[in-house]
Amino acid sequence: MRAVVVNEFGPVASHTVESIADPEPGEGEVLIENHAIGINFPDALMLQGKYQKRPEQPFVPGRDCAGIVKAVGAGVSGFKPGDRVVAQVFKGAFAELVPAPEKRCFALPKSVPFDDAAAMITVFNTAWVAVDIRAGVKAGDTVMITGAAGGVGTAATQLCKARGATVIAAVSSDEKGKLAKDNGADFLVDTNAADADTLKTHLKAQISAATGAPEGRGCDVVIDMVGGDMFEASLRVLRFAGKLVIVGFAGGAIPTAKANYLLYNNLSVMGAPLDIHFDMAYGEMARGANSWIALAADGKLRANIWARYPLGEFAAAFDELTGRKVLGKVVIDPRA
Ligand SMILES: NC(=O)c1ccc[n+]([C@@H]2O[C@H](COP(=O)([O-])OP(=O)(O)OC[C@H]3O[C@@H](n4cnc5c(N)ncnc54)[C@H](OP(=O)(O)O)[C@@H]3O)[C@@H](O)[C@H]2O)c1
Repeated sequence: MRAVVVNEFGPVASHTVESIADPEPGEGEVLIENHAIGINFPDALMLQGKYQKRPEQPFVPGRDCAGIVKAVGAGVSGFKPGDRVVAQVFKGAFAELVPAPEKRCFALPKSVPFDDAAAMITVFNTAWVAVDIRAGVKAGDTVMITGAAGGVGTAATQLCKARGATVIAAVSSDEKGKLAKDNGADFLVDTNAADADTLKTHLKAQISAATGAPEGRGCDVVIDMVGGDMFEASLRVLRFAGKLVIVGFAGGAIPTAKANYLLYNNLSVMGAPLDIHFDMAYGEMARGANSWIALAADGKLRANIWARYPLGEFAAAFDELTGRKVLGKVVIDPRA
């Protein structure tokens, strides 16, 4: 089969598509004939050896795929050859055939196209962890979402709207703002600022205006994809008992929160790690995945696919993603 292979960690473009032996499904695994791959910011980190967990090399990277079950290994009871599935694996998705643990596969209704499902799985699972499991967003909450026109941002916006929250999308351009609005955002805030201090005052003033000038009520929840200066500015837009949920550091810098600021302002800061939830809270993850898949099957969620690339051009797809150009999601066709 054809697959992207990481022989040695390095820049995304240093890896190539190779012809390697077809994998067999191991015990408890489903072998998927892959029809669509979703790419995510963490995949870019994984290819470069910058992800927190690093598989032994050589390996096939990639976490999101959707396709048809080709074979099942011993002990698999939930799937059979011919079933449509979407899967989120730790590695192996950038290939024509993907061996996936049964627990990482979910039945996919016919009404959800493979490329939509592959584009949605990591970002909606992450949004489920951040919005529902960690923040517990409920009707009437005001939620600011940073990186709101990205993959997790658009998914989190849709889940917050489905819970009845007001969403304020923090974005860096008008076209990203339009996508955030198309996904249900009620208000937009502009994140362009010359330095960290200007960002703090600029963001606070905009949130004040959005949530009720002149004093401004502030946000109940911030879901932060960006980190760095954005994280620090985001702490300042929270109201009494506000929660900041850390999803990632797309901006590249890992920030620090001052404990006295959290104490004086009665704030909570919490992480929303996706993978560990599969290990520690599988029931909740399966419930979340099946709930967004059902909403997608009813046409109630958007996949926001912005571009499609053939497998051989995966590096160009990542250039768009890490270059901050993508509006929504990019998918790769493993068969093209
Ligand atoms: N917690 C988890 O388990 C988990 C799971 C999946 C992803 N993540 C993390 O969540 C974050 C978002 O992932 P994603 O897949 O949604 O990414 P994405 O689609 O690339 O979106 C990231 C957004 O962040 C903003 N951004 C700000 N500075 C940036 C920079 N220097 N480079 C790139 N983007 C920048 C961009 O919006 P603006 O241009 O509007 O600022 C962009 O739309 C990443 O840090 C990722 O590693 C975490």
